[in-house]
Amino acid sequence: RIAGPCGLVLFGVTGDLARKKVMPAIYDLANRGLLPPGFSLVGYARRDWADQDFAQIVHDSVRAHARTEFREEVWKQLAEGFRFVQGDFGDDVQFDALRRTIEELDVSRGTGGNHAFYLSIPPKFFGDVIGQLQEHGLTDGGDGSWRRVVVEKPFGHDLESARELNAVINDVFPPESVFRIDHYLGKETVQNILAMRFANNLFEPIWNSHYVDHVQITMAEDIGIGGRAGYYDGIGAARDVIQNHLLQLLALVAMEEPLSFDAANLRAEKEKVLSSVVLPRRLDLHTARGQYAAGWAGGEKVIGYLDEDDIDASSTTETFAAIRVDVETRRWAGVPFYLRHGKRLGRRVTEIAVVLKRAPHLPFTETATEDLTQNAIVFRIQPDEGATIRFGSKVPGGAMEIRDVNMDFAYGGSFTESSPEAYERLILDVLLGDPPLFPQNAEVELSWKILDPVIAHWARQDAGSSDGIDQYAPGQWGPASADAMLSRDGRAWRRP
Ligand code: BG6
Repeated sequence: RIAGPCGLVLFGVTGDLARKKVMPAIYDLANRGLLPPGFSLVGYARRDWADQDFAQIVHDSVRAHARTEFREEVWKQLAEGFRFVQGDFGDDVQFDALRRTIEELDVSRGTGGNHAFYLSIPPKFFGDVIGQLQEHGLTDGGDGSWRRVVVEKPFGHDLESARELNAVINDVFPPESVFRIDHYLGKETVQNILAMRFANNLFEPIWNSHYVDHVQITMAEDIGIGGRAGYYDGIGAARDVIQNHLLQLLALVAMEEPLSFDAANLRAEKEKVLSSVVLPRRLDLHTARGQYAAGWAGGEKVIGYLDEDDIDASSTTETFAAIRVDVETRRWAGVPFYLRHGKRLGRRVTEIAVVLKRAPHLPFTETATEDLTQNAIVFRIQPDEGATIRFGSKVPGGAMEIRDVNMDFAYGGSFTESSPEAYERLILDVLLGDPPLFPQNAEVELSWKILDPVIAHWARQDAGSSDGIDQYAPGQWGPASADAMLSRDGRAWRRP
């Protein structure tokens, strides 16, 4: 589907996200013919730029990060709709200038009053910007047109601040006009979780506590924090991705069949699951965290977290976090879900492994099955997008010996269609006003409700000790406490 007449106003044009994701995605959408011919992009920032300077920034970002081929004629048409407004987030005069720019675009580009305001800025500025938009009559484009707001995480740093943030936004924009980006929901493989579960009869009969032993959700990165100290320190792995991406993945894996795939029904099921998530009582035994130490990664010497620029040497911000949660429903009673995320781990991989119980009886000698592990269904979210089913098979030869084998589905081998980048998909959905892939207030607040006690527990540990937190060497899969956490339950993490 192609977006109707519209434009986008981007706050935070100099940020990493805007340059690496948002701007390239806009070009890719234009290149695929999914944007209206008169699409406009307005940048708003403090820099002293002219329209051409802004166009140059977008150009550089597109050349560096766009996924589709650069085509001069597409670029030219798109760039004619670029405007730049210089100002602070509290600048009355400049928000007036922004309104005039939008009105001018409605005439010159035919954007029809339809504009999305993309807040790619720290949440502490949301209130200012949203207040200004309201004061300057920017939240209403007139009859039959729409105004939407797009916000990026972090959606607060705990339940209370998330509620405050939601209130600030909803004071001005009604819930149906608010699009919260959790870019994992824009990933093709993440959307496929529901397709695979509910389009087939293969998985659902065993998708419950009778057959599933436990679920492991892993999001591992090999990179460190890069230049993101300002954002990351004090936030850490749990708030950065468990609160959003990983709990969303859990919701998709564990939810019941929705009545339909529209936003309201999807949310209803996700909220039900998130409401049934409980933490173990002993958080000291069922959570783990750590920081990457100095060492070697990809053949290069790398510094530890505490030596990164702008990180305080006594920081206890975790770069690895693992938690166990239980989903207290009839389907999942007694099936732990283990979630882990870390930076500077062995490799970049995100996967969900549904690990099955052992067969109730094995009519073989013990030695025949000694190499056999538990069956598993693994959704490979990235980078080798696809799915794997692991099961035992006889090793060829005279003896009865059974070993694990993998049956693989790889996107590349089955489809010639390419997957759009998550941001492309999500930005297009904003412009189309299509909400299923955007979490609403309730999901965000439920996720914080799950995580808050873990973070409070870690804060109490820190207050009672000055030793700092566990360190792990780059390339490892987190600190020893993460392995201990699973071995206490008689289980082990997969090595993806
Ligand atoms: C972001 C986190 O949401 O996801 C980053 O803030 C992380 O810390 C990134 O690096 C990873 O995204 P992806 O799509 O590369 O898995």
